[in-house]
Amino acid sequence: MILKKPREKKRVSLKGAVQINQNSYFVYTDEAGKTFLKTGKDEKLHKYAVQKMIELNPSVRTILKKYKIKPSIDTKTLKELTGGHMNETCNIAMGVYSLLPEYIKVKVDKSVIKEASMLHDLGKVLIPAKILNKPAKLNIKEREIMNTHSTIGYELLKTQSISEDTLELIKYHHQNLKHSGYPDLEEGKIPSDIGVQIVSISDKYSALREARVYRRKLNRVEALLILYKEVREGKILPDIYNALVKYAQKFDV
Ligand SMILES: [Fe+2]
Ligand SMILES: [Fe+2]
Repeated sequence: MILKKPREKKRVSLKGAVQINQNSYFVYTDEAGKTFLKTGKDEKLHKYAVQKMIELNPSVRTILKKYKIKPSIDTKTLKELTGGHMNETCNIAMGVYSLLPEYIKVKVDKSVIKEASMLHDLGKVLIPAKILNKPAKLNIKEREIMNTHSTIGYELLKTQSISEDTLELIKYHHQNLKHSGYPDLEEGKIPSDIGVQIVSISDKYSALREARVYRRKLNRVEALLILYKEVREGKILPDIYNALVKYAQKFDV
């Protein structure tokens, strides 16, 4: 399928993401190297940028071909992700970070957590909407396709001016301390397991507190109880989980 170019001819590249006063902005540069900010709601620009990202990295097309995914960008998904879930995950991650014990804080870079949480699910824009919004459990094949989103996001952003640390967190935001998540780890190690846990627990909490087509929105206690299971299974450090509990109680989220 040939992607239609928007009328806008300006070439842009994504430089990263920032949060200013609880609002998320994506940082772009134009051809002249001029930097500008756009909110998550500017779907036209974001869609164009994703199209450019696909063109720039042949690995993206290889993944899409392997799983027979059409390279069509779902505007509705893009808008929801950039203006909603990724923004909320970032808010939670920043809250969790601020309440972490000092010995953990020193092991991670706040700006990397911020950027990675704001971009973590970008790869979902290429996951077919019928899988993304299926009102039932995904079958094995569909699950396999859904699980490519973290690698697709990593590959899309690899050609942009995003730091290697941020890219690694995006790729492994569904991994955990037991290494039982996805994608499989190269040489059995997570580059920043603390960073992965912060983004991952914030991502999951954000998702559980939102309604999905297959389930209702969970309340705070229900969501925290589900995530406590991950502590018991050794997938997440108790101190990171405790920071989430404190954040959720303190800000009533
Ligand atoms: Fe994800
Ligand atoms: Fe997510």
